[in-house]
Amino acid sequence: MNAILAAGDFDLSEEAPAKINLALHVTGRRADGYHQLDMLVSFTRHGDRLAFRAANHDEFSLSGRFGPLLSVEAGDNLVLKARDLLRQAAHAAGFDAAGVHIHLEKNLPIASGIGGGSADAAATLRGLMRLWQLDLPEEAVKAIALKLGADVPMCLASRPLVARGIGEAIELLPAFPSFPVVLGNPLIGVSTPEVFRQLSRKDNPPLLFPSQMPQGQGEWIDTIKALRNDLEPPARSICAEIAVLSGLIESQAPILTRMSGSGATCFGIFADTEQAKTAAASLHRQRPDWYFQVTETIAGEA
Ligand code: C5P
Repeated sequence: MNAILAAGDFDLSEEAPAKINLALHVTGRRADGYHQLDMLVSFTRHGDRLAFRAANHDEFSLSGRFGPLLSVEAGDNLVLKARDLLRQAAHAAGFDAAGVHIHLEKNLPIASGIGGGSADAAATLRGLMRLWQLDLPEEAVKAIALKLGADVPMCLASRPLVARGIGEAIELLPAFPSFPVVLGNPLIGVSTPEVFRQLSRKDNPPLLFPSQMPQGQGEWIDTIKALRNDLEPPARSICAEIAVLSGLIESQAPILTRMSGSGATCFGIFADTEQAKTAAASLHRQRPDWYFQVTETIAGEA
């Protein structure tokens, strides 16, 4: 844990788990240009961390491996946007929502397809709801989340789920198991709008999710293997390192290798934690300049 978070001088903290798209199928396009998707999503124990403290004036501080790369401008930073939108809604509902110092420990690579910015925004909403003791309707908070980004509503849940629409129609998967995974990223940011622009629908006929949800790890693995990420081909055409990264992970003999979101992060699902750790250590030796992280997905909650 970072020193500033360990010091106990914050009132509360929130985890911002990385998001993994186990599958992402493009099923259509809305009139406003956003793509309709069917996504199977899980979250990992590894992620960013945020801490909150009541303060006279708003403050924002950063730490962590990727902290120095992040903008602290209110217009670009999803944490600050989330704070400002929630405060507006709080004031409109008659709450005080006073000054706050927010600290972000940025452990996840930026623009990497594992929803770091979205997870931070969702954790900000959760943290400030607690700090400001806001009693806002769930639908109002979800609407703020969606305004911040298509992936923010699912990050509010941070549990295994199926998301449809552009990510706003969410169905939690209480029986979803946990898997050991290795995340890898070549530390090249990939632009999500650019990946969607390069998407060739002709190459991507929609695949349907099973109507009956699988049971247990084995059935889930078989199901996930039959699904895919439709953004992988366009992302690979933009960022050549994705194919190299995917090949390196595949050479560690995981059960499955796939790209998450719009990339460039790829993940491998491994049979057990020891294999995942061995794989991550080997990958790190081969590419010490890239990001590799061993973790596990968060299981569903009954
Ligand atoms: O909502 P978010 O800020 O994450 O989306 C970034 C961009 O990615 C959008 O402006 C849009 O170009 C593209 N996108 C899309 N369909 C989605 C999600 C994102 O076309 N479902």
